Amino acid sequence: MSNDGVNQGRRRFLTGATCVVGAAGVVGAAVPFVGSWNPSAKAKAAGAPVKANIGKIDPGQMITVEWRGKPVYIVRRTEEALATLSQMTDRLRDPESTKSTQPSYVDPVYRSIKPEYLVLVGLCTHLGCAPMYQPEVRPADNWLGGFFCPCHGSKFDLAGRVFQGVPAPLNLVVPPYTYVSDTVIEIGVDQEAA
Ligand code: FES
Repeated sequence: MSNDGVNQGRRRFLTGATCVVGAAGVVGAAVPFVGSWNPSAKAKAAGAPVKANIGKIDPGQMITVEWRGKPVYIVRRTEEALATLSQMTDRLRDPESTKSTQPSYVDPVYRSIKPEYLVLVGLCTHLGCAPMYQPEVRPADNWLGGFFCPCHGSKFDLAGRVFQGVPAPLNLVVPPYTYVSDTVIEIGVDQEAA
C-alpha cells in the first residue's frame, strides 16, 4: 500500500516535469534565438549592428534576435498572411503607419523592405512587454493572425500594426535594417547607408 503511494507521487512528479519540459520545448521551437552571427556582448551593449541569417526561416515561422538589448522579431510571412493585411484597415489605429516609427524605405502597409520578411522590435508600444506571435487564424475571434501582448491585451496584425481599442498607441517599431544578401539582413544599418 505504502509503495503505491510513493509510486503515485513519483508519477505525478514525472508528469509535471514532462509538462514543463514540453512547454519549454514549444517556446524554443516557436521563437528560436539566433546567436552565432552576433557580435560580442560588449559590442552589442554599444549598439553594434547585428546580422541575422533569414535563409532558414520556414514560411510562417518567427525567429528572435537581440539588438541593443531588445528582441527583434523576424517573421517570414506566407502569401496567405500577406493577403490578410489589406483586410485589416478599418480595424487599425494607424494602418498606413503615418504616426508610427519605421524607416522611410519601408513600405507603410507591409512595413518591410521585402513583403515576405517582417522585421520588428518586439516590444509593445504601451509599456514595453514582449507581444506573442500568434499567426494562426481564429474565425471565432475574428483573428487573422498577428501579435498579442499578454500584459494588457494589445493586439497587432501581421505587419505589427496596432488595432483600435487597445492600450498600445502605436504600431510596433520597425528598426533600421538592410539586406546584406538574399539570406542575410543586418539590423541597425540603414538601407541607404549600406
Ligand atoms: S505593455 Fe502591451 S498592452 Fe500594455
